[in-house]
Amino acid sequence: MRISVIEGDGIGPDVTRSTVKILRELNSQIDFVFLEAGYEFYKKSGESISDDTIEAVKETDACLFGATTTPPKIIEGYKSPILTLRKELELYANIRPIKSLEGIKGIHDDIDLLVVRENSEGLYTGIEEELNNGFSAKRIITRRGTERIAKIAFEYAKNENRNKVTIVHKANVLRKTCGLFRDLSLKVGEGYPEIEKDDFLVDSFCMCLVKDPKKFDVILTTNLFGDIISDIGAGLIGSIGIAPSMNLGDNYALFEPIHGSAPDIAGKGIANPIASILSSCLMLKYLGKKEYAKKIEESIEKVLKRGIKTPDLNGKSTTEEFTESVISMIREIL
Ligand code: NAI
Ligand code: MG
Repeated sequence: MRISVIEGDGIGPDVTRSTVKILRELNSQIDFVFLEAGYEFYKKSGESISDDTIEAVKETDACLFGATTTPPKIIEGYKSPILTLRKELELYANIRPIKSLEGIKGIHDDIDLLVVRENSEGLYTGIEEELNNGFSAKRIITRRGTERIAKIAFEYAKNENRNKVTIVHKANVLRKTCGLFRDLSLKVGEGYPEIEKDDFLVDSFCMCLVKDPKKFDVILTTNLFGDIISDIGAGLIGSIGIAPSMNLGDNYALFEPIHGSAPDIAGKGIANPIASILSSCLMLKYLGKKEYAKKIEESIEKVLKRGIKTPDLNGKSTTEEFTESVISMIREIL
């Protein structure tokens, strides 16, 4: 098994190194291919991600990504590494489980949601144009894009024995783009009669999600809404530092925490590595190594229950202390 690793900027290297350490502890069969991308890489090389790196990622079985920092000022031609990889690898589905962990007190407990975010179009097309009096951004919703993400959402619901898919949109204002997304998603859902489906306007959905998250199960939505909703979900379960994700396409897969490079805590050694570690668990499951993923998940929860936590979870442990505790736990239960 060959895994490409892009650590990135800020806390990206801290959390990714923890994950690699844990994976190495579990399975010496994984070969890691370390690649560079991000703002720091741009500062020394003049590009944020090279074509060679993209090709090298394509040659591995999966990619583990940390996080990168967006340059403080607009740099003409600067490419966001993650958006570039999503595009080049056609990773059109962003799947983000929002799951409570034992040992962490969130705003609500026992949450188990799956956000399925369209990952290739919507407001993330990067097409912005100058107007007389400002700028405009292009929001693209296509039939093909909607159909394939809706299919992923319903297939996941079916395979994970989930009961309901909620389509989240703003079709009362964005009548054509969101209207298409809602209608076509519901149509795809007709092929899954055993799964309940409903739809919500994004604003009232967010209110209901915060108030009563257990009302929902799979959440199917467009790119920007999915980005925002998954951060709200992460807040509900206790920290953005524990929310993992996978970016899936028909040929490639990339796994990353949903958080960014967190410059406010970078270099302090206190980043929570759980989101990155759990992303690697999604990767292990994708690669057919479910038993390894289970061991890691079990170890994390046992460590948390002993009160070993990073400061975002009101704990006192450093990234390294937490990682070492997970490794000791893995050795205990192996
Ligand atoms: P962020 O997710 O990096 O941080 C938001 C807040 O959560 C901060 O207070 C941070 O300290 C905290 N946080 C995030 N991850 C944490 C962890 N693992 N442990 C403990 N606390 C954690 O979002 P922000 O601040 O809006 O963005 C920072 C930079 O990251 C920006 O340059 C942004 O463009 C970039 N970014 C990159 C992403 C990627 O590479 N995929 C995704 C999101 C943001
Ligand atoms: Mg985000």
